[in-house]
Amino acid sequence: MALSAPELSLVSDNSEQLQQDFGRKVLEVNGLTKAYQQGKMVLDGISFELRAGEFVAVVGRSGAGKSTLLHTLNGTIPATGGNILNVHRDQSTDDVLMMSRKELREWRTHCGMIFQDFCLVPRLDVISNVLLGRLSHTSTLKSLLKVFSDKDKAQAIQLLKWLNMLPYALQRAENLSGGQQQRVAICRAMMQNPKILLADEPVASLDPKNTVRIMEALQKVSSDGVAVMVNLHSIELVQEYCTRVIGLAKGQVIYDGHPSGLNDQVLHRLYGDEIDQIS
Ligand SMILES: Nc1ncnc2c1ncn2[C@@H]1O[C@H](COP(=O)(O)OP(=O)(O)O)[C@@H](O)[C@H]1O
Ligand SMILES: [Mg+2]
Repeated sequence: MALSAPELSLVSDNSEQLQQDFGRKVLEVNGLTKAYQQGKMVLDGISFELRAGEFVAVVGRSGAGKSTLLHTLNGTIPATGGNILNVHRDQSTDDVLMMSRKELREWRTHCGMIFQDFCLVPRLDVISNVLLGRLSHTSTLKSLLKVFSDKDKAQAIQLLKWLNMLPYALQRAENLSGGQQQRVAICRAMMQNPKILLADEPVASLDPKNTVRIMEALQKVSSDGVAVMVNLHSIELVQEYCTRVIGLAKGQVIYDGHPSGLNDQVLHRLYGDEIDQIS
């Protein structure tokens, strides 16, 4: 898919590099399988590539394997077979399935994930929560003492400003609305300077206004050169924001392409009788 680099210059430490990388292959998945119980494939031979700057939705009915897919990509759930290749700039690759614990920790900084329940530290203020995204780059002792470099602090402030959250920087995370917490979670993930950002149903618990804010925020992240992949329920949102959609049914890819290609026939294959419940 041809992608053109945007004129935005944004927040990441490595934003210049990300812009140069626009359209570059960052991940290759081949014949990925996952069985929680022997013989019961939840992911059944999934293959696709991810490119920098794409905004990819994963859709499919409940139980199709969407959450399992995202978690296997960032290594929080071990896959059973196939491979997940981290593609470097020089085209060399590392397989996530073969990584040691230490290598997986490192991989998760490049392949960030935001969770449905945000996972913020409730009593900590917003800016500290964002700075915690630097944890993997900072020694544990320094992190505990909240010793962050001026550069890190500047980046945290810039990120909060970028998602219109700077006025809340000193408020405790627990005092924010769901949509505000989700934006803080995105800022924290971006503090890792990831090249891939995964989000499992990031708007599932949000009202329409906050849904728009989060979808716009994720769109901004992708137009900054990050490959963004999100599980979504709403086809309307997919059509409005995403550059590509992967449709899963029973652990297999049955559609991979532009959202405009999601016609009635494809939707019926994806959702079957549940088709009336989606919008
Ligand atoms: N930890 C687990 N142990 C056993 N089965 C699981 C586990 N997590 C998910 N599953 C099963 O895997 C299938 C896919 O689940 P999931 O990836 O959560 O689908 P989705 O996110 O599309 O709803 C479902 O049948 C679910 O019951
Ligand atoms: Mg799920």
